[in-house]
Amino acid sequence: MSRGTQATINLKHLKHNYKVLQTLAPNKLVLVVKADAYGHGLKQIIQTLDEADCFAVATIEEAMTIRRINPTVRIVLLEGFLSLSELHIAIDNKFDSVIHQQQQLDMLDTLTLSNRINIWLKYDSGMNRLGFNAKDFTTAIGKLENKQQVNELILMSHLASANLTQSDFTKQQTKKFLEISNNHTLSLSNSSALLTGKNLVDEWCRVGLSLFGVSPIEGKKSVDFNLKPVMTLKTNVIAIKKVSAGETIGYSQTYTAKFDSQIAIIGIGYGDGYPWAINPSAYVKIDNTDAPIVGSVSMDMIAIDITEVKNITVGDSVLIWGEEDTMHLPIETIAENANTIPYVLLCQLTSRVHYKYV
Ligand SMILES: Cc1ncc(COP(=O)(O)O)c(C=O)c1O
Repeated sequence: MSRGTQATINLKHLKHNYKVLQTLAPNKLVLVVKADAYGHGLKQIIQTLDEADCFAVATIEEAMTIRRINPTVRIVLLEGFLSLSELHIAIDNKFDSVIHQQQQLDMLDTLTLSNRINIWLKYDSGMNRLGFNAKDFTTAIGKLENKQQVNELILMSHLASANLTQSDFTKQQTKKFLEISNNHTLSLSNSSALLTGKNLVDEWCRVGLSLFGVSPIEGKKSVDFNLKPVMTLKTNVIAIKKVSAGETIGYSQTYTAKFDSQIAIIGIGYGDGYPWAINPSAYVKIDNTDAPIVGSVSMDMIAIDITEVKNITVGDSVLIWGEEDTMHLPIETIAENANTIPYVLLCQLTSRVHYKYV
């Protein structure tokens, strides 16, 4: 018997989601695969998405990993080059680059006439993270349009609250972006905007989380958008014990059994990336039944109450999130119960988790 903590990555679901998003997008998709493809394994994801038009990543190293697998696909550096040497790596490897600040424009001025690069110029329409203000953006457009080294100029901005269905900030940001970006190729929408938006302005929608079959929208699950979870996380029961009414379970004795209970100890904990801070309604699934998590999450183990589930034995499989046969446990639910977002859960799995690609 092994601990059995395993993330199964369903590449068929990945392709399904890609098709769904393609049908929603007004034009083409940039597939955002930073942070090891949102914790799914960059290499395998790239190899599977061999028809993609364009990938986007945060770092030069991530871009190089893609380039080694795919010598021709378009790759955007979302934070751009951060030094002259990174700029030259970008040019040599035919990476597109975001430009979001003056220092990057200055670095472009050092290029020789034979250098060529595609630029995604970033406007800060309200996120207040990366990007130029309106005046500097307009000046930069003028400059880059006349620059021989710039092959193609795309104008982009990033949305702050497209995941919040009650917010009208996306409308405000879109309006600001359109006012300043006439007659150019545009890129604005992320997953949330693509899944909920109408009349999208994008030539290039930039999608990450939805590609992996997870909903970024508050109160919505992937199934609401016909998306399928790419990752399923499972573990095994490693011990079973009886606990009497009145006894406590786990560190700091945060849980007291109300009744005589049957408890299973399962082989996953915060050392594998499961969140430590979960609320009392958190649960896993075993034998098609919800089994509540009882007591605090340990580094390597979690206790679950299986009093209501019959015939469980050591070695039985436990669904942590995703789907297996007829069992479904959306990662969005785990995120709610852990007061976090699915992005974090996917990215924080540790190297102790085994990955299996199917
Ligand atoms: C600039 C930019 N565009 C697009 C995305 C994709 O966002 P999502 O994963 O919500 O689709 C990200 C992700 O963080 C991003 O930083």
